[in-house]
Amino acid sequence: MTSLTLGLVQVTSWALRLVSFVYRHTLKRPINFSEAYNEGNSWAVVTGGSDGIGEQFCRDLANQGFNICIVARNEVKMQEKLASIKGEASKNGKNIQTKYVVADLADLTRYSDYQAIADQLRDIDIGLLILNAGWTLMGPFKDLTP
Ligand SMILES: NC(=O)c1ccc[n+]([C@@H]2O[C@H](COP(=O)([O-])OP(=O)(O)OC[C@H]3O[C@@H](n4cnc5c(N)ncnc54)[C@H](OP(=O)(O)O)[C@@H]3O)[C@@H](O)[C@H]2O)c1
Repeated sequence: MTSLTLGLVQVTSWALRLVSFVYRHTLKRPINFSEAYNEGNSWAVVTGGSDGIGEQFCRDLANQGFNICIVARNEVKMQEKLASIKGEASKNGKNIQTKYVVADLADLTRYSDYQAIADQLRDIDIGLLILNAGWTLMGPFKDLTP
């Protein structure tokens, strides 16, 4: 009896996982951030948006109609990736604007350092801020300086 119960629980668990997998990959609609956060000409600002996870954020959000601003270190790479992102969005019927801010987040330790980035974003409506790249100090809190 106990092994029958355990077997049923196991089979039910597998069935639920299968249904969940099929739902996620077929029926579930991707989240459209634009419906919630784009007021028509809004921007998504993505730190580390020129590679990896951040780049995919940029591509998905551009395809949803967001203007895209990347914050990273390598200016040429940002220019190339933004051109590609803009081209892909255009093929999907979205005419977006792009910009970038050159910054090494590992060098920013003071509020005034971040203010220099904020100053370059002052005139745009930021609908989404994706903090994908960042830097932090590790170790006991008592050993950190302000
Ligand atoms: N990939 C994973 O499996 C994984 C898993 C867990 C967490 N994460 C985290 O997710 C984030 C993105 O990972 P990823 O794999 O997509 O990284 P990635 O492909 O290496 O891309 C990193 C991005 O961040 C920028 N970047 C790196 N250092 C920077 C700095 N000091 N200042 C400003 N920008 C900087 C890079 O551009 P530049 O080089 O031009 O600056 C690039 O655009 C990271 O925080 C990572 O720790 C990743």
